[in-house]
Amino acid sequence: MKEQLAKIEREALETITKAADPAALDELRVKYLGKKGELTAVLKQMGKLSAEERPAMGALANEVRAALEEAIESTAQKLAASALEARLKAEAIDVTVPGKAARQGHKHPMYRALDEIKDIFVGMGFTVLDGPEIELAELNFDRLNAEEGHPSRDWSDSFYFDRDARVMLRSQTSPMQVRAMDSMPLPIRIIAPGRVYRKDEIDATHSPMFHQVEGMVIDKHITMADLKGTLNLLAEELFGKGTVTRFRPHHFPFTEPSCEMDVQCHKCGGVGCPTCKGEGWIELLGAGMIHPNVLRMANIDPEEWSGWAFGMGLERTAMRRFKIADLRLIFENDVRFLEQF
Ligand code: PHE
Repeated sequence: MKEQLAKIEREALETITKAADPAALDELRVKYLGKKGELTAVLKQMGKLSAEERPAMGALANEVRAALEEAIESTAQKLAASALEARLKAEAIDVTVPGKAARQGHKHPMYRALDEIKDIFVGMGFTVLDGPEIELAELNFDRLNAEEGHPSRDWSDSFYFDRDARVMLRSQTSPMQVRAMDSMPLPIRIIAPGRVYRKDEIDATHSPMFHQVEGMVIDKHITMADLKGTLNLLAEELFGKGTVTRFRPHHFPFTEPSCEMDVQCHKCGGVGCPTCKGEGWIELLGAGMIHPNVLRMANIDPEEWSGWAFGMGLERTAMRRFKIADLRLIFENDVRFLEQF
């Protein structure tokens, strides 16, 4: 029995210390120390020994068991340590490898122009409003003094949602004038940028969707001089000191008098060239003094209050601001074009 125990100890210690992984180690533990294990089998024979032999054998068997348990424990620790080391090695990050640079985009030139416009007006105490692109014809037309039958309401010009032509894609940002009058206390100074929609074919200067910036002031003693002063300042801030503007008489149902503002072509200085299509001037916006009917419909007394409004084409402004020749470039979003700004 003594030899048996010695043999088990020798064999077990050798194989245990060589166990390749925790699973193999566990198998060995079962093989030697388990219920049906080799050491257990020997211990079961203990009963056959004489009373004199038993204590010495028992002590020896316990020593062997302790030795095996200790070997299993220390091997388990070694395996865990080397597993951790292997994992650390596998998951190591080489901080010296060059990183993948994140490509940073930038603002679209039209929105850069819009940011500049907003800055200029916010600096003069204006509030920036946002409003719906799906609009009531009542606000897009009726409340702007363009009643039933007015040519601008034609089905061939605007996108309507219903047969009664009550709901539409706004054809201008001017309904924001009405929304401001209905919701804000006087005096009012607002701009309202946004998308507008018209049934136009796409070409170098037209698109069925484009952007406008509406502007409006209502206060006491507001005159056309305030309008011209503000718009001249806008032109100089946007396009540079000394930018020359021109105001031409025009007609809009919701302003009286009405005008259009042109800026002198930056390329030819007004002589006429391909950029301004020989005109010498580039049309930028429509404007005028708010029609008394429009004020009255908003319950504002035109005897006490007066105001001006303008609506400028944002694409056009960005084209002039960044010297872009074709409107389509603004929408196509070709990165090779956009990267130039
Ligand atoms: N809404 C007009 C247009 O789209 C522009 C405009 C706005 C004119 C405000 C006068 C006052 O052409």
